[in-house]
This record gives sequence, C-alpha cells and structure tokens, in this order.
Amino acid sequence: MARSPVEASAPGKVILFGEHAVVYGRPAIAAPISQLRATARVAPAPSGSGLTIAAADLGARVRLAEAPADEPLACAARLALARLQAAEPDAVLSVHSAIPIASGLGSGAAVATALIRALTGYLGAPVALEALSALVYEVEKLHHGTPSGIDNTVIAYEQPVWFQRGHPIERLRVGAALTLVVADSGMPSATREAVGSVRQARARAPARYERLFDQVAEVVGLARQAIERGAAPTLGALMDRNHALLAEIGVSSEALDRLAQAARRAGALGAKLSGAGRGGHMIALAEDDARQAVAQALREAGAAHVIETTVA
Ligand code: MEV
Repeated sequence: MARSPVEASAPGKVILFGEHAVVYGRPAIAAPISQLRATARVAPAPSGSGLTIAAADLGARVRLAEAPADEPLACAARLALARLQAAEPDAVLSVHSAIPIASGLGSGAAVATALIRALTGYLGAPVALEALSALVYEVEKLHHGTPSGIDNTVIAYEQPVWFQRGHPIERLRVGAALTLVVADSGMPSATREAVGSVRQARARAPARYERLFDQVAEVVGLARQAIERGAAPTLGALMDRNHALLAEIGVSSEALDRLAQAARRAGALGAKLSGAGRGGHMIALAEDDARQAVAQALREAGAAHVIETTVA
C-alpha cells in the first residue's frame, strides 16, 4: 500500500545553566531554540528499494541495509524500526538541518528526533515524547559517549526544562520572557572530546571537580528561582558565575571568554558559554534596549554568527 509522505521537525537547544556538571548528576536548565530546526521527510519509493537515507546538507545518500552500525542517522532509523517491530519500508528519508553542526546547539539530537518522528509517523505509529526522547538518547550515546540526556529531553519536549539525571523532567516556569543573544565562536565544539577531557581531569583531581560541580549546582538552583521570579539582573550575574566555573572546569577558550566579555561591556546582564564548550556557542542575556548593541559587539569581537532567541 502506498503511503503519503510525512514531514516532521525538531528544534535546536541552548543549555542555560549547568552543562558538564549535569553529566555527574547535578541539575541543569535548558531551553529549545524553536527558530532553528532540523526537518525530516519520508516519501514512498519503488517496491523492493528499501529505505534510503539522504542527508541533504552533506550531499550524502546511503541505503539503510548498507549503512555502518555506528552511522548516527542509520542508527536512529534502526532504533525506530525496532521499537515499532516494523520491517524496513520502501521509502526515501531526507533530513535537513538549519542548526550548525558541532556548535553546542544540539544539531545531532535534533536531526535524530526529526528523523524518528517522521519515520514512525510514516509507519502510522508516532512514538510518544518520553519514548522518542529515550530513542534519541541511544543515538546520542554514539555521538557523545556518556551524554547526560539533557539534549534529547529539551529537544523532544520542546520546552524549557529543569533536568537532573534519574529524576522526572520538570517544565520550568518562566516568570518573564528572557531575550538571549546567541553567538557562534566559529570554532567547532566536539561534545565527545570536551566531555572526555572533563572526565580525565576529574579522574586526576576528583575532590576539586566534585567541589566545582557542587558550586555549579548551587548556581543552577539560584538560576531556577531567578527565572521563575523573572529577576533578569540576578540571572545575568549567575550566568557570569557559571561561565567562570566552566572556565575552571577547563572547557572555556580564549574566543569564548572574549565574546562573553564583549557582550558584558556592551550592556548584557550576563554571558556564558553554552553546551560542551571549547568552541561552539555562547549566550548573553540582554534587556530589550541593549539587544542590538550586544549583537553588534559580538560581531565586532569575532562571532561567526549571531542570532536572538526568546525563552518563554
Ligand atoms: C551538551 O549539550 C551538554 C553537556 O553537559 C553534555 C551532556 O550533558 O551530555 C556538555
């Protein structure tokens, strides 16, 4: 029976507070970036052709039957089929992402989420959010080794979340909408390497790192209260504090420090790196009258790309 094409999408994300410490059981806060999306489309193909996955941005095309086991898109498709106990359909699954790769904005998790949504929708059995998030977590393990689970959660649920490993996810109440200026340092950020380097550093100095993670957790708890109360200046100061702790943890860089400093000088309430760090993105919290100046200062300080997003 010929099926109709199905399209689905998923957003990018920013970690607002608590990256890295979240891998070690501390809480973190993340929000979706709904204007940056990955999309997937599944359309019927001739009988007997099997499932072909086409990554439009990379110009890559591979048949599922021939894809290596650790290829993330094929892994996502296989997990979805196994979950539904479904046979491989004769179809073409095309994915496209507007989210920069290796930049801390969750491109890998968003592509996998869109892909699983589209494929399970095409097969007439879309998976619920919790199961979707769990499947994407399996794919994330391929990309990142030991992910905390925050990226797949915030992306599947597409809402601001308070996340702690092993606890039910909580939707965060945002007292007053937050405007974030998000800047790309232009340097790639490989989550697997950054998380691996923190693991090694922690193995060399466990007490020091546990103390740093506890300090991050304290900041994350205070940030939650400030977000709920809509206390933007307090939140900005907490972002600066979290950035300083991330620098101590060893995941900042000269470019990220420079961008954060430029944002503060231009009137941002606070700024920090976001995601795995080393490269990738930073975020600055700006009130409406400072937004443009902050964005401009970030460009002048060398940001490869600047966008604005609202957390509400
Ligand atoms: C990546 O977005 C956030 C990290 O904390 C890794 C993780 O939580 O899996 C660096």
